[in-house]
Amino acid sequence: MPSKPATVAFVGLGYVGLCTASVLTAKGIRVIGIDIDRERIDKLSKGTAPFHEPGLTPMLKTAVKKQRILFSTDINAVVEAETSFITVGTPSNPDGSINLSFVKEATKGLGSALTDSDHYHLVVVKSTVTPGTTSGTVQPILTSSSGKAIGEKLGLCSNPEFLAEGSAIKGTLQPDKIVIGASDKLSGEKLERLYKHVYSPRKIPTIVTNPTTAETIKYSSNAFLATRVSTINTLANICQRLPDADIETVSRAIGLDPRIGPLYLKAGPGYGGSCFHKDLQALISFSKTLDYDPILLSAVEDTNQFQAREIVKLTGRLLGSVENRRIAVLGLSFKKDTDDVRESASLKVIDELVKNNATVATYDPMAIENARKVLPEQVEFLADAKSCLKGAECCIIMTEWDEFYRLKPADFTGTMRTPNVVDARRVLSPAKTQGINYLAIGLGSARP
Ligand code: UGA
Repeated sequence: MPSKPATVAFVGLGYVGLCTASVLTAKGIRVIGIDIDRERIDKLSKGTAPFHEPGLTPMLKTAVKKQRILFSTDINAVVEAETSFITVGTPSNPDGSINLSFVKEATKGLGSALTDSDHYHLVVVKSTVTPGTTSGTVQPILTSSSGKAIGEKLGLCSNPEFLAEGSAIKGTLQPDKIVIGASDKLSGEKLERLYKHVYSPRKIPTIVTNPTTAETIKYSSNAFLATRVSTINTLANICQRLPDADIETVSRAIGLDPRIGPLYLKAGPGYGGSCFHKDLQALISFSKTLDYDPILLSAVEDTNQFQAREIVKLTGRLLGSVENRRIAVLGLSFKKDTDDVRESASLKVIDELVKNNATVATYDPMAIENARKVLPEQVEFLADAKSCLKGAECCIIMTEWDEFYRLKPADFTGTMRTPNVVDARRVLSPAKTQGINYLAIGLGSARP
């Protein structure tokens, strides 16, 4: 039985840091959460999460109540821990490359905090960083700021994260794999032991490799998933231009081929969120520094960029000009079960509609507050789907929220001025489109 690790620190309490930290507390580990944002730390100390994530709040509140998690803005608090995860953000630079300034700052702070410590301390880079960063950037900063070499008293690993928003807690409780990029044998063994303890008695498939390969695995995963989405969207756009084709049936059929598999084959308005676009841009930009132009990845990104326009085009097919027409947009977040609107296709569609002088009414069960900060002033925000549909000449379903699946034909025909619907997520089943002028992503005109 592996010995129980005493305390683990997280430096940076965004999605990855906070969700992972909270899950560890549920597994009986003591956590120190560090962030430079004082307001965030104050809220977290009271058990208030700064974003919506299913399952997070109860876990956080329990951890705070039972004092399994302590919060601080002072990085020196890491000396209490045996392992520190770096989970700070890596935002994009204007050229698409990642900005490592938070990673560098955190590493420097960590190293300085560990200078006088006599205990072994493992530093784990969980932030998404381009291949070579842990060895080429983090390691030299860490060793010089701590005055220690990797080995007896100091360990360093890369340990990328694969959790997805909306299922981050579930994903952390039941990961499909753990990837450890160890700088030396002891570092890898220590991190493997920590995870064995966390997931015991379950055995999670664990890949132990070098830091650069581990970092590459993370980018490869997102590049592959984004490529699948752009591929299915390309095929959907072809289906849409045929009289009798339906991408839903195409996806179901090709997904049965074990070489393809069924996931990430859902056609839609284009991928959003804080990761795919950022990571693809970072990988493209990084590859160019290696004198390699990854044209496939650029095509994936270009395809995605254009996908929102397909939705606007479908709206045009129903309405002709959108000028001065009232359009109801259902869904603002980049996918269901999150309040995150970053890179959301819904915002791109709304911007285009507003530019063309449409009157836009919107509703989202969770993301209105975030969307309000970034959308043009004239956009209206309604309290529920039915109020949003009232008097509209067209409805565009942009996010696949469960409650939109429950809408009935009468909700459209009884409230809208004209029951035109563009379904960017294929939410409405054929039975639900009775009496509606219905166009959908990837649907030719075959549907009765
Ligand atoms: C993604 C990855 O799925 C995670 O494994 C990864 O850890 C994370 O990025 C990250 O790098 O941090 P996330 O951005 O939360 O997670 O969202 P996804 O569920 O992957 O969806 C991304 C976008 O693709 C969404 O807009 C979604 O609607 C779209 N999508 C996904 C489709 O349009 N069709 C699909 O079949 C699947």
